[in-house]
Amino acid sequence: MGSMSALLGGGIVCWAYGAYVINNHYKEKEAKTNDPEQIFTANDKQDDARVRKIKKRLILGSLVYGVYDMFEGKPPIEWWTKVHYDLLELDEVLTEDDLDRYATELQDEHKNKYLGVFRRKKESPSAEASDWVVAISGTEPLNWADLQNDLAIILETLNSKNLITILEVVVRSLGAQHGFCSVNVTGHSLGAAAGLLVCRRLALKGCLVEGHFFNPPFTTLESLAHTCTHAVKHALMRVFPAEGENFFDAGKRLGSKVLHAVPDTDRRSKALPEFKTLAEAKWSPYLYVNKK
Ligand SMILES: *[C@@H]1O[C@H](CO)[C@@H](O)[C@H](O)[C@H]1NC(C)=O
Repeated sequence: MGSMSALLGGGIVCWAYGAYVINNHYKEKEAKTNDPEQIFTANDKQDDARVRKIKKRLILGSLVYGVYDMFEGKPPIEWWTKVHYDLLELDEVLTEDDLDRYATELQDEHKNKYLGVFRRKKESPSAEASDWVVAISGTEPLNWADLQNDLAIILETLNSKNLITILEVVVRSLGAQHGFCSVNVTGHSLGAAAGLLVCRRLALKGCLVEGHFFNPPFTTLESLAHTCTHAVKHALMRVFPAEGENFFDAGKRLGSKVLHAVPDTDRRSKALPEFKTLAEAKWSPYLYVNKK
């Protein structure tokens, strides 16, 4: 009985993941026909809290699109220009020391182009835009580096990947130069997983970076559940008001099956104090999960 429901849970998760990949592709096309510039035509000062949140999400989403275009080698549509940001080179943001120390990871990043560092233009009309944003793009099915990263998510070894290292160095460096951790981090899919990991890690060290993440992979939601159960459950309940509870439990069961197969008591024994630290710091990520 137990293994049947675990199997069913696993089936649901796999099916949902497949549907999510297909839907992403469609949504990407659809969303890109919207012009983000339109949000600046309305008077910012009259917005209520809800509209301000939507505007902020649109701005961050546009920056993620910008990184995708760079990553896919398309002529840049300059999404960031439309939402009043400048794109900076990683070399401009990092110190000489970091450039030396992380040369390998940087070389990898120059090749992959997962990251974009954006600075808000002085004349930006939106009060909702943060001064600095680091945006991370997601996966492409035919890219080998990505497949390896996807596998790494499943094996929960993403921490050691070059993307994670360079992301953490960039966010820290921006924080050091422009006020402690005064950065917003955003990402989609694999980028969301990477961003979540780094933001959580920094939050554990007392550096509260604001993270906004679009469709993090389900495996990541599961691993997040170990330290932010409340936040993940809340997000899922919002998306699946009726099935949320079951769905969450099915995912959690599957996840714990996978996790228990990995002898990793060290990681698990760290989970509880980490949970306490994050709860005390009142850190939690903003997660935007697609209904599909
Ligand atoms: C993130 O951006 C908002 C503006 O949208 C800003 O108020 C906030 O301070 C930023 N977060 C951090 C940690 O700097």
